[in-house]
Amino acid sequence: MEISTRGKNVTPSSTLAMNAIANQLKAEGKKVVNFGVGEPDFDTPLYIKEAAIHAMLTGLTKYTPVSGLLELRQAICSRFKNDYNLEYKPDEILVSNGAKHAIFNVLQALIDTGDEVIIPSPYWVSYPEMVKLCDGVPVIINADPKNDFKITPSELEKSITEKTKLFILNSPGNPTGTVYTLDELKGLSDILVKHKIYVISDEIYDKLIYDGEKHHSIASINDEIKNLTFIINGVSKTYAMTGWRIGYVAGNKEAIKIMTDIQSHATSNANSIAQYAAMIALQGGEKELSNMVAEFDKRRKYMIEKMEEYGINYVRPKGAFYVMMNIASYKGKSINGELIDSSDKFAELLLKYNGAATVAGSGFGNDNYIRLSYATSLEDIKLGLENINNFINSLR
Ligand SMILES: Cc1ncc(COP(=O)(O)O)c(C=O)c1O
Repeated sequence: MEISTRGKNVTPSSTLAMNAIANQLKAEGKKVVNFGVGEPDFDTPLYIKEAAIHAMLTGLTKYTPVSGLLELRQAICSRFKNDYNLEYKPDEILVSNGAKHAIFNVLQALIDTGDEVIIPSPYWVSYPEMVKLCDGVPVIINADPKNDFKITPSELEKSITEKTKLFILNSPGNPTGTVYTLDELKGLSDILVKHKIYVISDEIYDKLIYDGEKHHSIASINDEIKNLTFIINGVSKTYAMTGWRIGYVAGNKEAIKIMTDIQSHATSNANSIAQYAAMIALQGGEKELSNMVAEFDKRRKYMIEKMEEYGINYVRPKGAFYVMMNIASYKGKSINGELIDSSDKFAELLLKYNGAATVAGSGFGNDNYIRLSYATSLEDIKLGLENINNFINSLR
């Protein structure tokens, strides 16, 4: 088979791969604690499911406008206004098949062959791959764990060349849980405006935030940065709706029109039933959301406490539902004669010998870490952390 160069260059998603192995071990009857999960372990709230049933029963099952139902786009605009005092009109919104698809559409519309896209590492696995699929060039900035994996304005400026087109910001971040403060965002925004660099601001975890931190959208700083920014969000994480596949982008009207045209030839509109459900989701759900956030926070605190107790090095997360565990000091050690020489090997052997599934940092651009998700029960977290402690204590 003659596969395209573009196709050959794609690296499969490491998060999905690890999940698949863990599920396979479970199916074989083995007890596996799955720290690899990238979605809330909560059910979609009932009021949202009822909205979907109502949509189906009343025949709202046909094509919708490619850019999404007007009522949904209006609901999205209201959320931007209420949450971040951001003014968008429905023709500045495109609804897609999940936030991932929304990001892909932005890249398709903006990136020409050879354009550089700056991505801080550790990054969400799909960013560099999507950039490569658009024939762009990912330019990685290694964020310092001592600075909570946040990049500084001067680090950003140093990586800008005449080919730089776009910067990808993800706060709260996956896999780091990093949350940029308003001042930090202002610092980055000044550089981006000065060099006229577009921004994808992936804010999919905006509502999953702890330690009294507050989410700020970079677009809310001033009109200059707003005009350069494409905000990504969706219902996947906030409303535990990962399978419904509704995400969206807000930004410049002309660019949104191009993205809509691109989507019209690829997938047409997102699922009509899921769109009606998402519209209702966005208009409520505060109680369910605060319960979910409280539960995530309880688990996060427990994990941090235990990691301290076990002497495990980590970076304190302030958002999303992941913790980055440092594994650098275990490199060069072995278990049963098997050498740990990378985060992949650490994750593989931890799963093999102590039944804890995690995601190697290599896929996120930092081989000194593994990612642990706390979107799993507290009971499993307790057991899983004991397993990790036993594993590192048995390394020689
Ligand atoms: C940072 C980040 N952006 C985007 C997405 C994609 O979200 P969706 O499931 O809505 O496509 C994810 C999902 O894991 C994510 O972690």
